[in-house]
Amino acid sequence: MKPNDLSVGEVAARAGVPVSTVHFYEAEGLIESWRTPANHRRYDRRELRRIAIARMAQSAGISLAEVKEVLDRLPRERAVGKADWAKAAAPWKALLDERIEMLERLRDQMGYCIGCGCLSLENCPLYNAEDALGRNGPGARRWIGADDERVALESD
Ligand code: FES
Repeated sequence: MKPNDLSVGEVAARAGVPVSTVHFYEAEGLIESWRTPANHRRYDRRELRRIAIARMAQSAGISLAEVKEVLDRLPRERAVGKADWAKAAAPWKALLDERIEMLERLRDQMGYCIGCGCLSLENCPLYNAEDALGRNGPGARRWIGADDERVALESD
């Protein structure tokens, strides 16, 4: 038992999140707590940094699963150092670079599309920018079933 550990209310107040968010992050495995003999949750102060990282990453569009992957790489037994953080968060740089590039492409295309307005499924990169399945041709492309049923749907 560490005297400086925080209650859930203190963690929420210091992190600037609702208590429900603290419970949610804990349920998702992003942060940890321990229980007092009276069964009250207590959080090490280091959990505040994990919450800050999770909130910052989520606001940048990084999914909770991706946040957890990075947080799982950080040491729990000691304070997180600059080198730990740089190593753990390296995959986010590539991910964010990719998203920035996609958003820049969309922004550049948007000027043209505002004047055009066709929203063509075939030609407009804004209307269906991420249509990876569309490259396989028309018709249903996702089906979880027997192969013969899939063929029937794809030929519709
Ligand atoms: S709206 Fe016509 S190409 Fe995008």
